[in-house]
Amino acid sequence: MPLDVPSALDDALRALLPVHDILDGRVDDVDPPAWCVDRGWVDFLLGLGDDELARCEAGGLAERAPDLDGAPASLVALAAAVTTSTQIPVLDAARHAPPASALRSVRERKREQLAALLGAVAPMAARAARIVDVGAGEGHFTRLAAELFDREALGIERSAVSVASATARAASRAHEIDAPGSVARFVAYDACREELRFARDDLAVGLHACGEVGDRLITAAADARCEVALVSCCLQKIAGSVRAPLSRAAARLALRTDTLGLTNLTAQPVGVETTIEATIAARQVRFALLQLLRARGVVLDPGEEMRGINRRRARKGLRDVATMALALRDLPAPTDAEIAHHTEASRRLYGVIRRLSLPRSMLARLVEVAVVLDRAAALVESGARVTVATFVERAVTPRNIVILADR
Ligand SMILES: C[S@@+](CC[C@H](N)C(=O)[O-])C[C@H]1O[C@@H](n2cnc3c(N)ncnc32)[C@H](O)[C@@H]1O
Repeated sequence: MPLDVPSALDDALRALLPVHDILDGRVDDVDPPAWCVDRGWVDFLLGLGDDELARCEAGGLAERAPDLDGAPASLVALAAAVTTSTQIPVLDAARHAPPASALRSVRERKREQLAALLGAVAPMAARAARIVDVGAGEGHFTRLAAELFDREALGIERSAVSVASATARAASRAHEIDAPGSVARFVAYDACREELRFARDDLAVGLHACGEVGDRLITAAADARCEVALVSCCLQKIAGSVRAPLSRAAARLALRTDTLGLTNLTAQPVGVETTIEATIAARQVRFALLQLLRARGVVLDPGEEMRGINRRRARKGLRDVATMALALRDLPAPTDAEIAHHTEASRRLYGVIRRLSLPRSMLARLVEVAVVLDRAAALVESGARVTVATFVERAVTPRNIVILADR
Protein backbone atom coordinates (compact mmCIF):
# COMPACT_ATOMS: atom_id res chain seq x y z
CA MET A 1 0.00 0.00 0.00
CA PRO A 2 1.37 3.47 -0.80
CA LEU A 3 2.52 5.53 2.15
CA ASP A 4 0.29 8.38 3.27
CA VAL A 5 2.93 11.03 3.93
CA PRO A 6 1.12 13.21 6.53
CA SER A 7 0.06 10.26 8.69
CA ALA A 8 3.42 8.50 8.33
CA LEU A 9 5.16 11.71 9.40
CA ASP A 10 2.77 11.99 12.32
CA ASP A 11 3.62 8.42 13.42
CA ALA A 12 7.36 9.07 13.09
CA LEU A 13 7.16 12.28 15.12
CA ARG A 14 5.05 10.61 17.78
CA ALA A 15 7.74 7.94 18.17
CA LEU A 16 10.71 10.31 17.91
CA LEU A 17 9.90 13.47 19.84
CA PRO A 18 9.47 11.80 23.28
CA VAL A 19 12.92 10.21 22.99
CA HIS A 20 14.80 13.37 22.09
CA ASP A 21 16.89 12.92 25.24
CA ILE A 22 18.15 9.59 23.88
CA LEU A 23 19.05 11.17 20.55
CA ASP A 24 20.92 13.97 22.32
CA GLY A 25 22.73 11.59 24.67
CA ARG A 26 25.33 9.80 22.58
CA VAL A 27 27.16 7.13 24.59
CA ASP A 28 30.84 8.00 24.54
CA ASP A 29 32.03 6.41 27.76
CA VAL A 30 31.13 3.64 30.16
CA ASP A 31 29.01 5.76 32.51
CA PRO A 32 25.36 4.98 31.71
CA PRO A 33 23.65 8.12 30.36
CA ALA A 34 20.76 9.67 32.30
CA TRP A 35 18.20 8.60 29.68
CA CYS A 36 19.16 4.96 30.27
CA VAL A 37 19.27 5.17 34.08
CA ASP A 38 15.96 7.05 34.30
CA ARG A 39 14.15 4.48 32.15
CA GLY A 40 15.60 1.56 34.15
CA TRP A 41 17.32 -0.03 31.15
CA VAL A 42 20.94 -0.26 32.39
CA ASP A 43 20.95 -3.72 34.01
CA PHE A 44 19.12 -5.31 31.11
CA LEU A 45 21.48 -3.86 28.51
CA LEU A 46 24.67 -4.63 30.43
CA GLY A 47 23.41 -8.18 31.00
CA LEU A 48 23.19 -9.00 27.29
CA GLY A 49 25.53 -11.80 26.27
CA ASP A 50 28.07 -11.33 23.48
CA ASP A 51 26.10 -13.38 20.95
CA GLU A 52 22.87 -11.52 21.65
CA LEU A 53 24.69 -8.20 21.47
CA ALA A 54 26.04 -9.16 18.04
CA ARG A 55 22.54 -10.17 16.87
CA CYS A 56 21.08 -6.86 18.11
CA GLU A 57 23.79 -4.93 16.29
CA ALA A 58 23.30 -6.85 13.08
CA GLY A 59 19.50 -6.95 13.00
CA GLY A 60 18.74 -3.92 15.13
CA LEU A 61 17.40 -3.86 18.68
CA ALA A 62 13.94 -2.95 17.35
CA GLU A 63 13.68 -6.34 15.69
CA ARG A 64 15.19 -8.34 18.58
CA ALA A 65 13.59 -6.60 21.61
CA PRO A 66 10.24 -8.45 21.62
CA ASP A 67 12.08 -11.81 21.87
CA LEU A 68 14.56 -10.84 24.57
CA ASP A 69 13.99 -12.26 28.07
CA GLY A 70 13.73 -9.54 30.69
CA ALA A 71 13.51 -6.66 28.23
CA PRO A 72 11.91 -3.67 30.03
CA ALA A 73 8.38 -2.97 28.81
CA SER A 74 9.19 0.65 27.91
CA LEU A 75 12.09 -0.51 25.72
CA VAL A 76 9.90 -3.09 23.97
CA ALA A 77 7.23 -0.42 23.41
CA LEU A 78 9.78 1.94 21.87
CA ALA A 79 11.05 -0.89 19.67
CA ALA A 80 7.50 -1.53 18.44
CA ALA A 81 6.97 2.17 17.67
CA VAL A 82 10.27 2.27 15.75
CA THR A 83 9.34 -0.83 13.76
CA THR A 84 5.92 0.53 12.84
CA SER A 85 7.11 4.00 11.89
CA THR A 86 9.98 2.82 9.71
CA GLN A 87 7.93 0.54 7.44
CA ILE A 88 8.45 1.97 3.97
CA PRO A 89 6.75 0.31 0.99
CA VAL A 90 8.76 -1.00 -1.93
CA LEU A 91 8.53 1.16 -5.05
CA ASP A 92 6.27 -0.25 -7.72
CA ALA A 93 8.22 0.66 -10.85
CA ALA A 94 10.09 -1.37 -13.44
CA ARG A 95 13.87 -0.95 -13.67
CA HIS A 96 15.18 0.84 -16.72
CA ALA A 97 18.60 -0.74 -17.22
CA PRO A 98 20.89 1.19 -19.56
CA PRO A 99 22.93 -0.77 -22.15
CA ALA A 100 26.16 -2.23 -20.74
CA SER A 101 28.18 -0.05 -23.12
CA ALA A 102 26.83 3.04 -21.32
CA LEU A 103 27.96 1.76 -17.94
CA ARG A 104 31.65 1.16 -18.41
CA SER A 105 33.57 1.79 -15.15
CA VAL A 106 30.33 2.15 -13.18
CA ARG A 107 30.38 -0.04 -10.05
CA GLU A 108 27.81 -2.81 -9.75
CA ARG A 109 25.92 -1.27 -6.83
CA LYS A 110 25.73 2.09 -8.60
CA ARG A 111 24.39 0.31 -11.71
CA GLU A 112 21.57 -1.15 -9.63
CA GLN A 113 20.71 2.26 -8.21
CA LEU A 114 20.80 3.88 -11.64
CA ALA A 115 18.55 1.28 -13.26
CA ALA A 116 16.04 1.58 -10.41
CA LEU A 117 16.02 5.38 -10.34
CA LEU A 118 15.85 5.69 -14.13
CA GLY A 119 12.83 3.37 -14.04
CA ALA A 120 11.25 5.37 -11.21
CA VAL A 121 11.55 8.72 -12.99
CA ALA A 122 10.68 7.54 -16.52
CA PRO A 123 7.11 8.97 -16.59
CA MET A 124 8.25 12.30 -15.14
CA ALA A 125 11.26 12.46 -17.46
CA ALA A 126 8.95 11.98 -20.43
CA ARG A 127 7.02 15.14 -19.41
CA ALA A 128 10.02 17.24 -18.40
CA ALA A 129 11.62 19.83 -20.64
CA ARG A 130 14.90 19.41 -18.76
CA ILE A 131 16.36 17.09 -16.13
CA VAL A 132 18.51 18.80 -13.49
CA ASP A 133 20.68 16.45 -11.45
CA VAL A 134 21.96 18.15 -8.28
CA GLY A 135 25.16 16.78 -6.72
CA ALA A 136 25.78 14.93 -9.98
CA GLY A 137 29.18 13.50 -8.97
CA GLU A 138 30.70 11.63 -11.90
CA GLY A 139 27.51 12.39 -13.83
CA HIS A 140 26.25 8.85 -14.44
CA PHE A 141 22.60 9.64 -13.81
CA THR A 142 22.72 12.87 -15.82
CA ARG A 143 24.46 11.22 -18.77
CA LEU A 144 22.15 8.20 -18.82
CA ALA A 145 19.01 10.31 -18.41
CA ALA A 146 20.00 12.45 -21.40
CA GLU A 147 20.61 9.34 -23.49
CA LEU A 148 17.67 7.15 -22.43
CA PHE A 149 15.02 9.87 -22.27
CA ASP A 150 16.45 11.99 -25.09
CA ARG A 151 16.14 15.06 -22.89
CA GLU A 152 18.25 18.07 -22.09
CA ALA A 153 20.07 17.12 -18.89
CA LEU A 154 22.12 19.37 -16.65
CA GLY A 155 24.38 18.06 -13.87
CA ILE A 156 25.14 20.52 -11.06
CA GLU A 157 28.24 19.53 -9.11
CA ARG A 158 30.44 21.42 -6.66
CA SER A 159 33.66 19.59 -7.53
CA ALA A 160 35.30 21.01 -10.67
CA VAL A 161 37.31 17.79 -11.03
CA SER A 162 34.13 15.69 -11.14
CA VAL A 163 32.55 18.15 -13.58
CA ALA A 164 35.54 17.77 -15.92
CA SER A 165 35.45 13.96 -15.86
CA ALA A 166 31.64 13.84 -16.16
CA THR A 167 31.80 16.18 -19.16
CA ALA A 168 34.51 14.10 -20.86
CA ARG A 169 32.65 10.85 -20.23
CA ALA A 170 29.37 12.26 -21.59
CA ALA A 171 31.08 13.62 -24.71
CA SER A 172 32.82 10.33 -25.39
CA ARG A 173 29.54 8.41 -25.00
CA ALA A 174 27.66 10.80 -27.32
CA HIS A 175 30.42 10.32 -29.90
CA GLU A 176 30.24 6.53 -29.47
CA ILE A 177 26.49 6.38 -30.10
CA ASP A 178 26.66 9.17 -32.66
CA ALA A 179 24.00 11.20 -30.84
CA PRO A 180 25.47 14.63 -30.07
CA GLY A 181 21.95 15.86 -29.18
CA SER A 182 21.82 13.69 -26.08
CA VAL A 183 24.96 15.11 -24.48
CA ALA A 184 24.52 15.95 -20.83
CA ARG A 185 26.00 19.26 -19.66
CA PHE A 186 27.70 19.80 -16.34
CA VAL A 187 28.39 22.94 -14.38
CA ALA A 188 30.65 23.48 -11.39
CA TYR A 189 28.28 25.14 -8.99
CA ASP A 190 27.71 25.09 -5.26
CA ALA A 191 24.02 24.39 -4.79
CA CYS A 192 24.18 25.51 -1.13
CA ARG A 193 26.23 28.69 -1.41
CA GLU A 194 24.76 29.88 -4.74
CA GLU A 195 21.13 30.19 -5.68
CA LEU A 196 19.42 26.98 -6.79
CA ARG A 197 16.44 27.67 -9.01
CA PHE A 198 14.37 25.31 -11.16
CA ALA A 199 11.88 25.98 -13.94
CA ARG A 200 8.28 24.75 -13.67
CA ASP A 201 8.89 22.06 -16.33
CA ASP A 202 12.21 20.80 -14.91
CA LEU A 203 12.56 17.41 -13.30
CA ALA A 204 14.79 18.01 -10.25
CA VAL A 205 16.84 14.92 -9.31
CA GLY A 206 19.26 14.14 -6.51
CA LEU A 207 20.78 10.68 -6.24
CA HIS A 208 22.40 10.53 -2.82
CA ALA A 209 22.37 14.28 -2.55
CA CYS A 210 24.21 15.10 0.70
CA GLY A 211 22.31 16.66 3.64
CA GLU A 212 21.88 20.32 2.89
CA VAL A 213 21.92 19.76 -0.88
CA GLY A 214 18.80 17.59 -0.49
CA ASP A 215 17.07 20.28 1.59
CA ARG A 216 17.96 22.97 -0.97
CA LEU A 217 16.67 20.80 -3.78
CA ILE A 218 13.31 20.27 -2.04
CA THR A 219 12.87 23.95 -1.18
CA ALA A 220 13.75 25.09 -4.70
CA ALA A 221 11.50 22.44 -6.28
CA ALA A 222 8.60 23.40 -4.00
CA ASP A 223 9.08 27.06 -4.99
CA ALA A 224 9.18 26.21 -8.72
CA ARG A 225 6.39 23.64 -8.36
CA CYS A 226 8.41 21.25 -10.51
CA GLU A 227 8.60 17.46 -10.28
CA VAL A 228 11.21 15.77 -8.07
CA ALA A 229 13.10 12.53 -7.47
CA LEU A 230 15.35 12.58 -4.43
CA VAL A 231 17.36 9.87 -2.71
CA SER A 232 18.70 11.35 0.51
CA CYS A 233 22.19 10.71 1.90
CA CYS A 234 24.66 11.89 4.58
CA LEU A 235 22.02 13.93 6.41
CA GLN A 236 24.61 15.37 8.79
CA LYS A 237 26.34 17.34 6.03
CA ILE A 238 24.76 20.70 6.77
CA ALA A 239 26.30 24.13 7.29
CA GLY A 240 24.93 24.83 10.77
CA SER A 241 24.76 22.63 13.85
CA VAL A 242 21.00 22.02 13.69
CA ARG A 243 18.77 21.06 10.76
CA ALA A 244 15.56 23.07 10.66
CA PRO A 245 12.50 21.23 9.30
CA LEU A 246 11.20 22.15 5.83
CA SER A 247 7.54 21.30 6.33
CA ARG A 248 4.97 22.98 8.55
CA ALA A 249 3.85 19.52 9.69
CA ALA A 250 7.28 18.76 11.19
CA ALA A 251 7.74 22.20 12.77
CA ARG A 252 9.05 20.64 16.02
CA LEU A 253 11.63 18.41 14.33
CA ALA A 254 14.95 20.20 14.91
CA LEU A 255 17.83 17.71 14.71
CA ARG A 256 21.47 18.26 15.67
CA THR A 257 24.27 17.18 13.34
CA ASP A 258 25.41 14.38 15.67
CA THR A 259 21.86 13.02 15.67
CA LEU A 260 21.73 13.24 11.88
CA GLY A 261 25.11 11.44 11.75
CA LEU A 262 23.50 8.54 13.60
CA THR A 263 21.62 7.71 10.40
CA ASN A 264 24.86 6.49 8.81
CA LEU A 265 25.00 3.71 11.42
CA THR A 266 21.70 2.02 10.57
CA ALA A 267 21.89 -1.66 11.53
CA GLN A 268 21.94 -4.27 8.82
CA PRO A 269 23.24 -7.82 8.92
CA VAL A 270 25.63 -7.46 6.01
CA GLY A 271 27.62 -4.24 5.92
CA VAL A 272 27.66 -2.61 2.50
CA GLU A 273 31.38 -1.99 2.34
CA THR A 274 32.44 -4.72 4.74
CA THR A 275 31.11 -7.16 7.36
CA ILE A 276 29.36 -5.94 10.49
CA GLU A 277 32.11 -7.58 12.59
CA ALA A 278 34.77 -5.57 10.76
CA THR A 279 32.74 -2.39 11.20
CA ILE A 280 32.44 -2.95 14.96
CA ALA A 281 36.13 -3.85 15.23
CA ALA A 282 36.95 -0.58 13.44
CA ARG A 283 34.75 1.39 15.88
CA GLN A 284 36.57 -0.28 18.77
CA VAL A 285 39.88 0.81 17.24
CA ARG A 286 38.60 4.38 17.04
CA PHE A 287 37.59 4.21 20.69
CA ALA A 288 41.03 2.87 21.63
CA LEU A 289 42.62 5.69 19.61
CA LEU A 290 40.55 8.28 21.48
CA GLN A 291 41.74 6.87 24.81
CA LEU A 292 45.36 6.72 23.65
CA LEU A 293 45.32 10.34 22.46
CA ARG A 294 43.69 11.50 25.70
CA ALA A 295 46.28 9.58 27.72
CA ARG A 296 48.91 11.56 25.78
CA GLY A 297 47.25 14.77 26.96
CA VAL A 298 45.45 15.60 23.71
CA VAL A 299 42.14 17.33 24.47
CA LEU A 300 39.48 16.22 22.00
CA ASP A 301 35.82 15.33 21.69
CA PRO A 302 34.71 11.87 20.55
CA GLY A 303 34.82 11.77 16.75
CA GLU A 304 37.80 14.15 16.54
CA GLU A 305 40.30 11.32 16.97
CA MET A 306 40.07 10.46 13.25
CA ARG A 307 40.19 14.05 11.98
CA GLY A 308 42.43 14.18 8.92
CA ILE A 309 42.41 10.37 8.57
CA ASN A 310 40.16 8.40 6.22
CA ARG A 311 37.65 6.54 8.43
CA ARG A 312 38.31 3.28 6.52
CA ARG A 313 41.85 3.40 7.84
CA ALA A 314 40.57 2.27 11.27
CA ARG A 315 40.15 -1.19 9.74
CA LYS A 316 43.93 -1.48 9.65
CA GLY A 317 44.19 -1.54 13.43
CA LEU A 318 45.23 0.67 16.32
CA ARG A 319 48.95 0.86 15.54
CA ASP A 320 48.30 2.14 12.05
CA VAL A 321 45.82 4.89 12.95
CA ALA A 322 47.61 5.83 16.17
CA THR A 323 50.85 6.37 14.23
CA MET A 324 49.00 8.63 11.80
CA ALA A 325 46.97 10.50 14.42
CA LEU A 326 50.05 11.18 16.56
CA ALA A 327 52.12 12.28 13.55
CA LEU A 328 49.34 14.71 12.57
CA ARG A 329 49.78 16.27 16.02
CA ASP A 330 53.60 16.24 15.85
CA LEU A 331 53.75 13.67 18.63
CA PRO A 332 56.04 10.60 18.84
CA ALA A 333 54.81 7.27 17.43
CA PRO A 334 52.96 4.88 19.80
CA THR A 335 54.99 2.44 21.90
CA ASP A 336 54.30 -1.31 22.00
CA ALA A 337 53.15 -0.95 25.63
CA GLU A 338 50.64 1.78 24.70
CA ILE A 339 49.20 -0.29 21.87
CA ALA A 340 48.87 -3.37 24.10
CA HIS A 341 47.32 -1.41 26.98
CA HIS A 342 44.74 0.46 24.90
CA THR A 343 43.85 -2.59 22.81
CA GLU A 344 43.04 -4.57 25.94
CA ALA A 345 41.27 -1.71 27.76
CA SER A 346 39.12 -0.88 24.74
CA ARG A 347 38.10 -4.53 24.40
CA ARG A 348 36.60 -4.40 27.90
CA LEU A 349 35.22 -0.86 27.90
CA TYR A 350 33.89 -0.86 24.37
CA GLY A 351 31.68 -3.87 25.21
CA VAL A 352 29.88 -1.64 27.75
CA ILE A 353 29.54 1.21 25.26
CA ARG A 354 28.19 -1.14 22.60
CA ARG A 355 25.48 -2.39 24.95
CA LEU A 356 24.48 1.04 26.23
CA SER A 357 24.39 2.37 22.64
CA LEU A 358 21.78 -0.11 21.43
CA PRO A 359 18.66 2.00 22.20
CA ARG A 360 20.09 5.10 20.52
CA SER A 361 21.31 3.14 17.49
CA MET A 362 17.80 1.67 17.24
CA LEU A 363 16.55 5.18 16.47
CA ALA A 364 18.85 5.67 13.45
CA ARG A 365 16.44 4.54 10.73
CA LEU A 366 13.62 6.42 12.47
CA VAL A 367 15.59 9.68 12.28
CA GLU A 368 16.33 9.04 8.61
CA VAL A 369 12.67 8.28 7.88
CA ALA A 370 11.53 11.37 9.80
CA VAL A 371 13.81 13.64 7.73
CA VAL A 372 12.70 12.01 4.48
CA LEU A 373 9.04 12.42 5.49
CA ASP A 374 9.64 16.04 6.46
CA ARG A 375 11.02 16.65 2.95
CA ALA A 376 8.13 14.76 1.42
CA ALA A 377 5.62 16.73 3.53
CA ALA A 378 7.12 20.02 2.33
CA LEU A 379 6.36 18.90 -1.24
CA VAL A 380 2.86 17.78 -0.27
CA GLU A 381 2.30 21.21 1.29
CA SER A 382 3.36 22.76 -2.04
CA GLY A 383 0.60 20.82 -3.80
CA ALA A 384 2.54 17.83 -5.20
CA ARG A 385 1.45 14.17 -5.19
CA VAL A 386 4.26 12.45 -3.32
CA THR A 387 5.43 8.85 -3.20
CA VAL A 388 7.91 7.68 -0.56
CA ALA A 389 9.26 4.18 -1.15
CA THR A 390 12.39 2.06 -1.12
CA PHE A 391 13.80 1.91 -4.64
CA VAL A 392 16.52 -0.76 -4.11
CA GLU A 393 17.36 -3.35 -1.45
CA ARG A 394 19.31 -2.09 1.54
CA ALA A 395 22.19 -4.37 0.61
CA VAL A 396 22.62 -2.24 -2.54
CA THR A 397 22.70 0.96 -0.53
CA PRO A 398 21.50 1.59 3.03
CA ARG A 399 20.21 5.01 1.90
CA ASN A 400 17.52 3.43 -0.21
CA ILE A 401 14.46 5.65 0.22
CA VAL A 402 13.31 7.73 -2.73
CA ILE A 403 10.92 10.67 -2.72
CA LEU A 404 9.03 11.11 -5.98
CA ALA A 405 6.85 14.19 -6.39
CA ASP A 406 4.67 14.59 -9.43
CA ARG A 407 2.29 17.34 -10.34
C1 LIG B 1 27.21 11.10 -2.54
S1 LIG B 1 27.70 11.94 -3.95
C2 LIG B 1 26.52 11.42 -5.16
C3 LIG B 1 27.01 11.59 -6.56
C4 LIG B 1 26.06 11.08 -7.64
N1 LIG B 1 24.78 11.72 -7.61
C5 LIG B 1 25.93 9.58 -7.54
O1 LIG B 1 24.90 9.10 -7.07
O2 LIG B 1 26.89 8.88 -7.89
C6 LIG B 1 27.23 13.60 -3.61
C7 LIG B 1 27.77 14.61 -4.60
O3 LIG B 1 27.26 15.89 -4.28
C8 LIG B 1 28.28 16.84 -4.47
N2 LIG B 1 27.99 18.02 -3.65
C9 LIG B 1 28.09 18.12 -2.30
N3 LIG B 1 27.76 19.35 -1.92
C10 LIG B 1 27.40 20.03 -3.02
C11 LIG B 1 26.94 21.35 -3.26
N4 LIG B 1 26.80 22.20 -2.25
N5 LIG B 1 26.66 21.74 -4.51
C12 LIG B 1 26.81 20.85 -5.56
N6 LIG B 1 27.26 19.59 -5.38
C13 LIG B 1 27.54 19.18 -4.14
C14 LIG B 1 29.54 16.12 -4.03
O4 LIG B 1 30.69 16.73 -4.58
C15 LIG B 1 29.28 14.73 -4.58
O5 LIG B 1 29.77 14.60 -5.88
